[in-house]
Amino acid sequence: MKIAILPGDGIGTEIVEQAVRVLDVLDLNYESETALVGGAAYEAHGHPLPDRTLQLAKDADAVLFGAVGDWKYDKLERQYRPEQAILGLRKHLGLFANFRPALCYEQLTHASSLKPELVAGLDILIIRELTGDIYFGQPRGRRTAVDGHFPGAEEAFDTMRYSRPEIERIAHVAFQAARKRSKKVTSVDKANVLETFQFWKDVVTEVHAQYPDVELQHMYVDNAAMQLVKAPKAFDVVVTGNMFGDILSDEAAMLTGSIGMLPSASLDKNGKGLYEPSHGSAPDIAGKGVANPLATILSAAMMLRFTLNQPAAADRIDTAVKAVLAAGLRTRDIWSEGTTQVGTREMGDAVVAAVLGQSAGKTITKTT
Ligand code: IPM
Ligand code: MG
Repeated sequence: MKIAILPGDGIGTEIVEQAVRVLDVLDLNYESETALVGGAAYEAHGHPLPDRTLQLAKDADAVLFGAVGDWKYDKLERQYRPEQAILGLRKHLGLFANFRPALCYEQLTHASSLKPELVAGLDILIIRELTGDIYFGQPRGRRTAVDGHFPGAEEAFDTMRYSRPEIERIAHVAFQAARKRSKKVTSVDKANVLETFQFWKDVVTEVHAQYPDVELQHMYVDNAAMQLVKAPKAFDVVVTGNMFGDILSDEAAMLTGSIGMLPSASLDKNGKGLYEPSHGSAPDIAGKGVANPLATILSAAMMLRFTLNQPAAADRIDTAVKAVLAAGLRTRDIWSEGTTQVGTREMGDAVVAAVLGQSAGKTITKTT
């Protein structure tokens, strides 16, 4: 097994370091190679996704990714901005299926901005199409308008588009994922206004005919945004396009109390994947040792489960994370009265200790 490790910018390096420490105590016998990506790669090599980094990601069985971005790059030409690294990896590796679970841990129910009873036990899975839609649709650019409300004025445009195979494959991913859960899919669209999403709805409905055991519901994106905060537990698997999925997955993440807890997986058609926390590079807290490494550690668990075929090792990580939460350890983002605040490295230490304790048959003791 070869894992490409791409820590990136901001807190990326700190949190990936902790995930690697956890992988290292699992006796997995894997090979790894680290490379620069994002702003760090731009500084060193003049490009956020250097050829060497892309090649490494292509050659590896899986990619463990931290985060990219910093405000200081906001003025760069778009092609040099750190975000292009993750968009480029998604595109060049064909990572079309993005899994973003939003799980509310029992101990963190009170960290949510919603009433505890609305989120207790929340477990939804957002499946976001990741290589199409307005994110990648051509043509796009700036020009002088020849029609519209202001002919002759400067304008910018992007193209929203989805082909039948793109919709079919993500629909299959969603129905198959639902079969392993509570067999319910909500497909989110804007079919009442957009041609692209009427087509999306039609194709998802067609694919559904092959999954009679799974319930399918269609919902407009504006209503979905509302329902997510009104009654989030009514959802199970949500499947949607790239743009709506970007927005709804951040909304769903916040229901759980902290985006610092949520892992994600982006898979290609063969199950090869890139694994990253759902949060960003948080430049405001970078280098301070306070970032929550759990989303990245849980992303490593997803990597073991989905791509590297090591479900037992993945379970060990998940169990260890639950144990450190039960022991009352919290990074700043999830801290509440009566719990013990720890830094990034101490949180990593605790997960490592919990993983090692499992093999020794020990449990960690409450530290508060
Ligand atoms: C995400 C991020 C990215 C996206 C950015 C960093 C390009 O917001 O992974 O959700 O928009 O997809
Ligand atoms: Mg986003």
